[in-house]
Amino acid sequence: MNALELRNVKFSYGENAFAIENLNFAVKEGEFVAVLGHNGSGKSTLARLANGLLEADGGEIFVLGMPLEQKNLYEVRKNVGVVFQNPDNQAVASLVEDDVAFGAENVGLPREEIGARIDFALKAVGMEKERHATISRLSGGQKQRVAIAGVLALKPKIMILDESTAMLDPRGRREIIDVVLRLNKEEHITVILITHFMEEALLCGRAVVMNRGEIVMEGAPAEIFERHEELLTYNLALPRIGQICKGLREGGIAVEDTLDIEKLAEEIARCVS
Ligand SMILES: Nc1ncnc2c1ncn2[C@@H]1O[C@H](COP(=O)(O)OP(=O)(O)O)[C@@H](O)[C@H]1O
Ligand SMILES: [Mg+2]
Repeated sequence: MNALELRNVKFSYGENAFAIENLNFAVKEGEFVAVLGHNGSGKSTLARLANGLLEADGGEIFVLGMPLEQKNLYEVRKNVGVVFQNPDNQAVASLVEDDVAFGAENVGLPREEIGARIDFALKAVGMEKERHATISRLSGGQKQRVAIAGVLALKPKIMILDESTAMLDPRGRREIIDVVLRLNKEEHITVILITHFMEEALLCGRAVVMNRGEIVMEGAPAEIFERHEELLTYNLALPRIGQICKGLREGGIAVEDTLDIEKLAEEIARCVS
């Protein structure tokens, strides 16, 4: 079954241009998908549409096979957890356990159940020792793990991380990626990772590229990153090796695009021999 499916979805913030234009996107249950795209391509709008924070102007959205309609909004919100970019804007309480409990309390779970869910969620993100800590004293990576725990306490089937590692240092980024990789593998949570870090996308099973509110590229992350010319047309930064390939071609050495250093060396040898 598809965890999430958007069919011909359109959305405009009210001005003339559509932020999402005829978007078709399906994610299977258990998948780990990267969503790439330059600023303004519609990635965050996609995340907000998927959990019912915004309502589409056209098309259909299905969450776990359920049409996203007003009467299903509660089920949708419970099943599609979104973690945003800035760890400092997400906390609603000052203590870790209160923050993690917040969403679960809001959906009216019984007290014992909430306690069990805090245990589960903090353990899942490796923060059980910080249960009684003050959030403002945590590192960025720890704060984002608390934000993830808050989403996890609702036991969602789908998690969307909207550039949730963008403001973190490399270590914090790695902490978050490790957590979501594990949640995908062990808890079978479907993960949609919106990111502009190539290394993160390479860890995903599949990647899509958005441009002007549509999906314009799709495939295995490594395949996508090898399509250097196409990436450039969508204003995406090339991987370092892509910049080298491009430079070589501009210098008259007609190498094929590749992500593999050894293959590039062979290409250069072929071209200059
Ligand atoms: N709250 C908003 N009000 C009006 N326009 C918005 C708002 N949020 C985003 N947009 C516009 O919608 C388009 C898509 O934005 P967004 O989904 O945030 O892209 P991304 O997350 O890929 O950077 C952009 O043109 C952006 O300017
Ligand atoms: Mg965004």
